[in-house]
Amino acid sequence: MFDDLRSYLSYLEGQGQLRRVKEEVEVKFDIAAGIRKTSDVEGPALLFENVKGFPGWRVLGGLFATRKLVALGLGVPQDQMLERYLTLEDKRIPPETVSSGPVKEIKWIGAEVDLSKLPIVTHASKDCGPYVTIGVQVGKDPETHIRNLSIHRMLVLGKDKLSLWAPADHHLGRMILKAEEKNRGLEVATAIGVEPALVIGSQAKVPYGIDEYHVAGGLRGAAVKLIRCETIDVEVPAFAEIVIEGVTIPGERVADGPYGEYPGCYSEAKQAPVLKVTAITMRKNPIYQTALTGMPVTENHTLIEYGNAAVVYREVKKIVPEVRAVNMTPGGTFRHHVVVSIKKRAENEGRNVILALLAMGIGLKQVIVVDHDIDPFDPMQVDWAMATRFQADKDAIIVPRIACSTLDPSCPENRVTAGLGIDATAPMKERWRFEKVEIPGVDKVKYL
Ligand SMILES: Cc1cc2nc3c(=O)[nH]c(=O)nc-3n(C[C@H](O)[C@H](O)[C@H](O)COP(=O)(O)O)c2cc1C
Repeated sequence: MFDDLRSYLSYLEGQGQLRRVKEEVEVKFDIAAGIRKTSDVEGPALLFENVKGFPGWRVLGGLFATRKLVALGLGVPQDQMLERYLTLEDKRIPPETVSSGPVKEIKWIGAEVDLSKLPIVTHASKDCGPYVTIGVQVGKDPETHIRNLSIHRMLVLGKDKLSLWAPADHHLGRMILKAEEKNRGLEVATAIGVEPALVIGSQAKVPYGIDEYHVAGGLRGAAVKLIRCETIDVEVPAFAEIVIEGVTIPGERVADGPYGEYPGCYSEAKQAPVLKVTAITMRKNPIYQTALTGMPVTENHTLIEYGNAAVVYREVKKIVPEVRAVNMTPGGTFRHHVVVSIKKRAENEGRNVILALLAMGIGLKQVIVVDHDIDPFDPMQVDWAMATRFQADKDAIIVPRIACSTLDPSCPENRVTAGLGIDATAPMKERWRFEKVEIPGVDKVKYL
């Protein structure tokens, strides 16, 4: 458990997983280029200490660039991540409210707000401008006042205005629409530079109406310390580096994009809600954090993996109690493709798993089910299962017109996709025909 981002960075540095970058960098492209490279070479995280035009600021990038960095953030061995995540996600520790905290060291209220003073990064070559990409947004349901945590990109529109790409199929987008029904804006706080469990907790796929501060508390093993915002009725982590407070403008939408998105392609301009910024508070010598999105794997992928894998694992367990493993594949953006390995004990269990997962509405469009003797993380073994245990005319399932991500460029219409299921499990009868050939004594061969 880490008290704040700074203590986590010290820990990472001790582990050789943080590099301080002394070379001067520009906020336009340079920082993103560093994050791209570190994502491709398996880390470390980068702390840019010399950002042109922003003296006194440091910019952190690639904090979750690799799966190893996500595991370090939770203090869990990488090979035990799903198992441990499943337990921690269920733990739920409520937050505590405190009356003071470092995030209040500097306050810009009302007319003092000026987003151009923050080192907000432009990432990809065709992005339409600088985006805040890894702030944890806190919103409250307008009726129940239950909080939600999530991450949504925000395009800088001016000194005190941001877009907020929170579509209706996400909980924050739903809250914005609920507030608009009452002709009101939604108060939203964005906490930038928080300790890792909070960021990871914001990606939990828990049902609407569960306060993800409780989930983050469970993940970190202690209550998150919260403090009230200055201008809105929202609570934020007291140890955040920066908090942007704001209210959405009812009914107002702005073109947001193009932007290099998680499928690895540019999303066209979308109509996004607009946030009027009412205050910015921060620590002294603040660390601004940015995250890269784009071709997998980036932190927009690694951070999503376990929330998705957990919800898939739980769903499969309802059908087949013996689940060996779930692999949300990197090429499938950790969102759209999954390989599930099950111990099948009755015919057609694989088909039930396929239909259940495609129906979940979390964006899955390809489900491959294999037997428990196949490692779903090994592409060669999965391919072998398809070569020897799968017949396309009877074992493939195509489900037309299911809901999917708004950002998949292959979709014929917004949020409409076809789902593909591949049941590559062997039939129950005549199992011997599908048994792997094994040679006795391979483990005793010492000369190789
Ligand atoms: C770095 C990063 C950036 C993200 N950007 C967006 C975004 O701009 N819009 C969006 O809808 N989801 C984005 N997401 C995904 C959501 O934060 C995620 O699906 C979250 O679980 C949604 O919360 P909800 O379940 O409360 O709707 C991003 C995730 C990460 C890790």
